[in-house]
Amino acid sequence: MVRRILCVAAIVSISYGLVLDGDNVPQNRMDALEFMLVEEKQLRMKLEAKVTDLTNRMSSVESSQDQCVCGDGTGSQTRSQPSFMASMSHHMAHCGVQQPVIFDSVKLNKGTAYSPTHGTFTAPVNGTYAFFATLSIPPNNSFHIRMVRNNVANEVGLYLHADHLGIWIERSSNVVLELNKGDEVWMACMYDSQIQGDYHPGTTDPTDFISHFSGFLVN
Ligand SMILES: *[C@@H]1O[C@H](CO)[C@@H](O)[C@H](O)[C@H]1NC(C)=O
Ligand SMILES: *[C@@H]1O[C@H](CO)[C@@H](O)[C@H](O)[C@H]1NC(C)=O
Repeated sequence: MVRRILCVAAIVSISYGLVLDGDNVPQNRMDALEFMLVEEKQLRMKLEAKVTDLTNRMSSVESSQDQCVCGDGTGSQTRSQPSFMASMSHHMAHCGVQQPVIFDSVKLNKGTAYSPTHGTFTAPVNGTYAFFATLSIPPNNSFHIRMVRNNVANEVGLYLHADHLGIWIERSSNVVLELNKGDEVWMACMYDSQIQGDYHPGTTDPTDFISHFSGFLVN
């Protein structure tokens, strides 16, 4: 920008030189000076308008960046679409009524909106979000678990259940939700439940991830 202004100023001063030395040069030196001052003033106003325009544009770009979800918790300011995926590092033998299901083994957590200590995803901005849950249990166990928003009574339409069947069970479902910034989404036990966790925690063994919770911002 500065370089551009200097360049324009240089061209303008050369042009003045040419005008003054050329055929169209005003005879009276005072007229010539006045002419230059008027021209200079017009040019300065144009440049000022341009600078104001660019300043406005720059601050609108900066404020649109403020609205985006930036940073990944490590201090870097790269734009990152909030998304997470977590499984359970252990078998949950007893999940009491209204107790949160905590998926503690984080596989992905862009934007760090998911808390592996509380099992909650907190919407960082207003928007449409997609969530997925899969739960597994060995034969003759049971679970009744639903996804809730903010409080345990606020069901969002995802309910997974299995009752003492003689086989391994794996259940999955998903929901798409409109959330406000700060809304918390988590899984809650409705009755006493069991949930199978990873067999080989911390690996990518195919028998892992058999119970998991994931989600992301759609727009
Ligand atoms: C988010 O949505 C709520 C409720 O619809 C609204 O009051 C609020 O202004 C919105 N916030 C932003 C940042 O758009
Ligand atoms: C499940 O329960 C049934 C009935 O009690 C029993 O016959 C079966 O052996 C059990 N299965 C397992 C794998 O424990």
